[in-house]
Parts: sequence; structure tokens; C-alpha cells
Amino acid sequence: MTQAIETVNLTKIFDSKLIAVNNLNLKVEEGSIYGFLGPNGAGKTTTIRLLLGLLNPTAGEVTVFGEKMTPNSSGLRKKIGFLPTSPKFPPKMTPITYLNFVGKLYGLTKTERTSRLSSLIRSVDLLHSASHEIKGFSTGMVTRLGLAAALLNKPELLILDEPTLGLDPVGRKSTLDLLEKLDSRKTILVSSHILSDIERICSHIGIVNEGKLIYSGTIKEMKQHIKKSSIKLELDGDVTAFCNRLRSIDEIVNFERRGDFTVELNFAPNVPILRVVQDVLGIVSNEGLDLISINSSIDSIEDAFLTLLEEEESRGFLRAVEN
Ligand SMILES: Nc1ncnc2c1ncn2[C@@H]1O[C@H](COP(=O)(O)OP(=O)(O)O)[C@@H](O)[C@H]1O
Ligand SMILES: [Mg+2]
Repeated sequence: MTQAIETVNLTKIFDSKLIAVNNLNLKVEEGSIYGFLGPNGAGKTTTIRLLLGLLNPTAGEVTVFGEKMTPNSSGLRKKIGFLPTSPKFPPKMTPITYLNFVGKLYGLTKTERTSRLSSLIRSVDLLHSASHEIKGFSTGMVTRLGLAAALLNKPELLILDEPTLGLDPVGRKSTLDLLEKLDSRKTILVSSHILSDIERICSHIGIVNEGKLIYSGTIKEMKQHIKKSSIKLELDGDVTAFCNRLRSIDEIVNFERRGDFTVELNFAPNVPILRVVQDVLGIVSNEGLDLISINSSIDSIEDAFLTLLEEEESRGFLRAVEN
């Protein structure tokens, strides 16, 4: 599979102390819609600026369509459409005058501009406001105009930094619907801090936390991954009595005895695992068993995941995973 974006050990340290991007190895397949997720401050925008060659990495490198990205790669950047977070436009311009201006910057001829402009303005649903001044626009309209500008040059790769930020549910839906309708050969990297916002349209996701990629894979794999959260207990004593008591804990989806003294417990995806583990350990001690060992399949990736899940702003994660 050809990669549209590949980073190798990409690292950005600000002021010799703040590690905003930490050894990131990102692979975005051509034609995929890649959701780039992480809480605020995780390093999403910094990564995107590195991908675009707008920032120099402290270490590591970025390749886009197999070519190394540097601050001088203006030819390579022409293949990329970019929508920054909360884009700003000249308030006195209209969608037509602004897009015409951007088209000129790209060196499009008048004929090319006219035909691109009319089809883009229609596809981002700004036909009725095409000659209105931008200053009266809602956040959703500004985002759609930004999307039109990013698409003007028919980019092979589209990078959108939190396009749903500040939008109401209707605005979010229409923005995502628009992205979903784009040419399926186009590669899209879209960042967000809320999974449920973008998971509908993404084929793949990568989760960053504190500059590190803590998960990457398809949406389907991720859901299976989370659902598999389990712990294994090795006990000494009346394991059958212990198992009978486990049925009273709703959060345990199922459990299996593995041999005489080992029990594996599987949790529902949205369970506060630490609390359930405390309940389980309560039963161990009430039934007079000895706990020989406790092992968790929740490795460091999942740990980080759970921390993310607990964050207020990631509440959407749970909803998305439940679906
Ligand atoms: N130009 C900069 N100088 C110093 N620190 C920065 C700069 N840009 C971002 N940071 C810091 O890097 C971290 C990652 O920020 P950012 O990439 O904007 O995260 P996100 O987009 O995921 O919210 C934050 O701690 C932020 O304060
Ligand atoms: Mg950001």
C-alpha cells in the first residue's frame, strides 16, 4: 500500500524543553480518511505544521507521496489542501472574490477559476451567500469557505485541523457530510479532539497523547481492542464460589476459568475498570481466597487510552465505541 504521509521518528521540541511531538511514526495510506485524534495540547497542530513543512522538526522526517517534505518543498505542498483551525478570512471579501484571489495565487487561468469556483461554491453549499461579505458569516459558513479554498487546487491530500471546532451539531454534520462526499481517491487527514465527531467518516485513526502516538489502526480494530480489556487472576481457594459471586458484578461481561486456579474476566468497553477490580478483590477476600497474581491485558497503550477516555472532553469516545 502506498503511503500518502509517512513520518519517521518525528520530533519537535519547543524552547529546548517542551516535547510537543515525541518520536512519531505515522503512516497514512493513500485514499484513506485518517482521523488524527487527541486531547487539547496533545500535539496535533504541531504535527500538522511539520507535515506541511511549515515547521522544522527537531529530529526525524516527513515524507509525503514518497518525497521528503522540507520548508522548500513548495511543489510538494501544491499537492496538499490545508484547512487550519478556525480559519480567518478578509471580512470585506465575499466567497467569490476570496476564492478568485486564491485561484490566482495558485496560477489558475480565468476559465479554470470560473468553472472551479462555481462548482466548489455549490458543493460547500454557499451559493446563496456567494456574493455576501464574509464578516457576517457563521462559524459553519467560514469552515465551508475554508474547505472550498483548500480544495481549489484539486489537492491529492487534504489536511484539516479540527474542522468541527466551534460548530453546532448541524454544522458538524454538514461539514462531515461534505468530506464524505469528496472524491474517494483523495487522502484526508482530519484532526479532532472528539472521536465520536469524526469516527463516522474515518477509515483509520491515530491517537496522540502528550506528543506520542498511542494507537493507530482501523476503526474496527480499535473497537475490538477496547472491548478486549480483561484481567487474569490466579487464586488459591474455592474458585467456584468466587466465580458464582462474580455474577453479581454487572460490569463484567463474562469470565472464563482457565485451569483450576485461573480466572479471566472481560469488561464492557466503558467500564471504570479500577472500581470493578476493587469489587473483584473484595470478593476474593470475602470468600477467603488467596490472590497469587493479577495480570492485565490492558497494556500501556490501553492504559493511555483509558486515561483519555476519562477525560471530560473525550466523553464522545465512549458513545462512539458503544455503537
Ligand atoms: N510555537 C510554540 N512554542 C512553544 N510551545 C508550543 C508552540 N506551539 C505549540 N506549543 C505547545 O506544544 C504542545 C502541543 O500543542 P498543539 O500542537 O497546538 O496541540 P493540539 O493541536 O493537539 O491541541 C502544547 O503544549 C503547546 O502549548
Ligand atoms: Mg490544535
